Amino acid sequence: MEINKEFAKLSLPNQEPMTLPVITDTMGGRSIDIRSLRKDTGFITYDPGFVNTGSCTSSICYIDGEQGVLRYRGYDIEDLVEHCDFVEVAYLLVKGELPNVKERKRYADLLNNESLLHYDMQTFFRQYPAEAHPMSILAAMSVSLSAFYPEMDDIDPEAQIDFAVTRLISKIRTITAFTYRHMKGEDFVNPSYKYSYCENFLNMMFKSPVIEYVIDPLHVKALNQLLILHADHEQNCSTTAVRLIGSAEANLYASVSAGICALWGPKHGGANQAVIEMLHQAHIEKQSVKEMVEMAKDKRNPYLLMGFGHRVYKTFDPRAKIAKSLCKAVITRNGHSDPLLDMAMELEEVALSDDYFKERNLYPNVDFYTGLIFRTLGIPTNMFTCMFAIGRLPGWIAHWLEWKKDPYQKIGRPRQVYDGPQGRTVKTISER
Ligand code: SDX
Repeated sequence: MEINKEFAKLSLPNQEPMTLPVITDTMGGRSIDIRSLRKDTGFITYDPGFVNTGSCTSSICYIDGEQGVLRYRGYDIEDLVEHCDFVEVAYLLVKGELPNVKERKRYADLLNNESLLHYDMQTFFRQYPAEAHPMSILAAMSVSLSAFYPEMDDIDPEAQIDFAVTRLISKIRTITAFTYRHMKGEDFVNPSYKYSYCENFLNMMFKSPVIEYVIDPLHVKALNQLLILHADHEQNCSTTAVRLIGSAEANLYASVSAGICALWGPKHGGANQAVIEMLHQAHIEKQSVKEMVEMAKDKRNPYLLMGFGHRVYKTFDPRAKIAKSLCKAVITRNGHSDPLLDMAMELEEVALSDDYFKERNLYPNVDFYTGLIFRTLGIPTNMFTCMFAIGRLPGWIAHWLEWKKDPYQKIGRPRQVYDGPQGRTVKTISER
């Protein structure tokens, strides 16, 4: 990253022009350093949704929205999905390097040792209605971990990081599986040292005393790849929430719980659930994809094509491409088919040939196909966003830690453009 090699000139009313340093990042992206703008000129900037605003410097994830490139710590997502499992990628995001065999084994042992949930926490589940949305339970249980594991409140990144990170990554998986068992009114299945991270999850979800449950290797491979696809995505809404809460020096559990709540929104991580609901609704109402596209284009109609569009990608989301081929592999095995997959592929084709979508660069994003795979793995629709959270957790943790080590960071507190009433005098209530 370079700064002060180039400068931007800002001409302001009734003031001398201001010279602002230009920062050039490692991939050639350029930004204007406005850190002294208000102090030197009294002006602030206005940028709803932070569309044009960089909140930090970061070396964790790189996205090129025009070229459809996604890299974690410099590695292309396609390479990571093909050659790594989720535990290796979690290690990479948090520590900056891929683990060797010894390091991977140590991480796996830490994840295993921390996979159980405190007995008293297990009683919490029984207090939730079976129809509670799993994300409400996941958010509450995540922040409750700080009550049961208080020693994690003041994490010293150097001394405790492996222990703290693996404990959270392991327990969020157990909490999600226990939530599913509670929804079904079934006993919890504890994790086992015999299984890998993803094998354990599937076993905790689906093992049954009345039928023989055999962990399907294709489902394990698909789950590893899905979690890798979700593992990080630079300064998205939920990661920004985790960074912001962390900037107040709240503990990691509280910050992650805020990230889970942000991810729950249908415009963000909740979209994978919304995609399946959209496809299912159209299927039962025998709606054509052409009708769906026309509804999405009608500005008088709040209907959106869920799983389409992205703030950063203005071409195919590389994760959607990977998820599409994984979807076909998992669903069409042994000649099976799924009418919703057929509808999704037709919808993609029709939308991408429509001027409204082409002019706005609206392509399928990560959520368009992933829900179809989760559904095929037997995961209920209302738990898809929990799966997104399990995947995104290493990314959230990596960003939370990066903020703690950033010498330029301070508590996040944006300014505003005020458009409320000017000074007024209070009248007594009898005068109002
Ligand atoms: C994720 O940030 C990340 O990295 C997020 C994420 C991650 O990994 O963390 O990638 C995960 O959140 C993926 C996105 C999942 N959400 C959806 O699929 C919901 C549907 N998509 C839209 O809500 C929307 O595309 C967003 C929220 C994803 C992006 O919104 P932006 O960048 O604020 O764009 P916009 O709303 O200003 O849309 C620009 C135009 C508008 O039309 P005009 O005003 O120009 O006429 O495109 C239209 C929008 O109406 N538009 C859509 C549309 N998305 C945008 N029209 C129909 N269907 C859609 N899906």
